[in-house]
Amino acid sequence: MGTSDSSFQAAQRFLLAAKGFWTTKMYSRLRAEYAEQCAAQGKAPQTVTEVADVVESLTTYRYFAWLERHLQSAKYSGRYGLVPHYRRRQEEALGKLDGIEHDPALELDAALEMPAYYVATDIHQHPGGVWSEPIAGLVYEHGARTTTPLLGQTHADLHTRFTEKIAADGQPTRVLDMACGFGKSTLPFARRFPAAKVQGLDLSEPCLRVAAHAAREEKLDNVKFRQSDASQAILEENSFDLVTSTMFLHEMPPRVLDQVFDECIRVLEPGGRMVHLDFWHIPDPFDRFLHYGHGRRNNEPYMQPLAELDLPGILAKKGFKDVLIEPFHESSGTSGGSDAWRFPWTVISARKPAHS
Ligand SMILES: C[S@@+](CC[C@H](N)C(=O)[O-])C[C@H]1O[C@@H](n2cnc3c(N)ncnc32)[C@H](O)[C@@H]1O
Repeated sequence: MGTSDSSFQAAQRFLLAAKGFWTTKMYSRLRAEYAEQCAAQGKAPQTVTEVADVVESLTTYRYFAWLERHLQSAKYSGRYGLVPHYRRRQEEALGKLDGIEHDPALELDAALEMPAYYVATDIHQHPGGVWSEPIAGLVYEHGARTTTPLLGQTHADLHTRFTEKIAADGQPTRVLDMACGFGKSTLPFARRFPAAKVQGLDLSEPCLRVAAHAAREEKLDNVKFRQSDASQAILEENSFDLVTSTMFLHEMPPRVLDQVFDECIRVLEPGGRMVHLDFWHIPDPFDRFLHYGHGRRNNEPYMQPLAELDLPGILAKKGFKDVLIEPFHESSGTSGGSDAWRFPWTVISARKPAHS
């Protein structure tokens, strides 16, 4: 028996509701039990290992961790998963992207070699990752609508807020959005800065096709997308006054990240700035423990290594100035407090010196 569209929709809505429960009620219950245990055992954990000693044996924690892993797995795989859904409708779903490769705003590179770290993991538990089959961009776009369940269908708010934060520091004229995916981070720049030339760059052809299609639908003529590796020196030096990324820095091993920062400073013009939105500022050891676990359970092996890096030291050594690393609230409904789980959103910004 086939899986009907309405069964798929209902199952995905159920998964989202369950994730909402996990994010709020389960998280606050776990946090309360953790506090009780700390008090009962006379402990005040300061490190992830000390938190683990208190938390790992709690049944609520095990259930929390199991749900985190398996709700995400069910979102992508199995009878009602996104990947089988799009595979069943591949021809119809991809129809809208037909011919997009001829759009002058899209530059693909069929010979581009995918880095080893990129192909080694089914990132986010997305079977085949965001790059290996034609539907991958559509699947990722659909999946991203429910990545932060508290935001529900208003997830775009995150990127809009990030764009507004950047706009508050001045209007860029040449923007490079590294690892732009399906354009969710890039299109808000193109809309907000209509006089700027915006370039999105990503490894994934299927994602770039979706990005270019979205830009064409919106008739945005100041944005281009290019298939390229952000860690390689492909672009001209001193050619952008703003380099950005969202949810990118945690997706690669530190040695590749080092090359990405080299690229940022190389392609920026003197005085230009880079602004990355990622996960780094985690002062609370309990939240840090959960974040590291999230990385393992969601197939994101470089979340922990990024969070452990001395970013201010690395950026200063590379010659960046005005390094600023600050927490970021992705939506007015989710800021502060410890009543709900949230990503440790962090803005990492710095400037290339005006005169070197
Ligand atoms: C979590 S997604 C974020 C996409 C987008 N910035 C957003 O906010 O929706 C990470 C993206 O990084 C891309 N990526 C990973 N390594 C890359 C590299 N070395 N060069 C360019 N893109 C890369 C992936 O293909 C994926 O689209």
